[in-house]
Amino acid sequence: MKLIISNWKMNPETVEGAMRLAKDSDIAGLIICPPFPFLEAVAKTIKQAELGAQDCFWEEKGAYTGEVSPKELQDLGAKYVIIGHSERRQNLGETDKMVAKKISAALKNNLTPILCVGETRAERDANKTQEVVARELTIGLSLVAKGHNPNPIIIAYEPIWAIGSGIPDTPENMLDMAKFIKETLKTNHYELKAKIIYGGSITSANVKDFLKHKDIDGALIGGASLSKEEIKKIVEISKNI
Ligand code: PGA
Repeated sequence: MKLIISNWKMNPETVEGAMRLAKDSDIAGLIICPPFPFLEAVAKTIKQAELGAQDCFWEEKGAYTGEVSPKELQDLGAKYVIIGHSERRQNLGETDKMVAKKISAALKNNLTPILCVGETRAERDANKTQEVVARELTIGLSLVAKGHNPNPIIIAYEPIWAIGSGIPDTPENMLDMAKFIKETLKTNHYELKAKIIYGGSITSANVKDFLKHKDIDGALIGGASLSKEEIKKIVEISKNI
């Protein structure tokens, strides 16, 4: 089964809105990642969908004002956590080393990390996509124990220029990237159970073009996840592939 992940980002604006959207998108097979303040309300609303968060800190508790620990997320019922989203890397200066600590903390707390990697438009134009993604993967996973690791990890390839732009990457390039990501993981001896998904301007109109390929394990969805009609259609399409 394909993984479909809703990333609500900093939406909607009220807890009532979040509960409504959660109810409307409470579909088996969907993972919903709401903003932190709405996690509990969403956890109580959903019966079929699963819960994820959009970030976590690398410590479990302590004097870290404003941070949210993986343990707290797990306690609220979260099973997944997005880590290293490009919006955090770009707006908040999140580095690969910070990402590495977060991935390790998430795994220790039984959360499945969704590690986001991807290049800017300038990096793509300069033929640096593979270099950037290899760096993000290698450093991002550097604190994960090598060898057997019982926890799965999800790698979301999200070209930054495709996020929220209405211009997705091509499925052909995504297939090349999926292959490249697998090879990079192998080279680094990570015996990880990795699932590789695509994110960036996915809608019900283009999701099938990506998911019909067996090497693309799912999709991370931003804008379209805020529309109940869209997200229902996307999950339905993914189930019929
Ligand atoms: P988008 O966002 O679907 O709005 O392009 C994807 C993401 O940022 O995860």
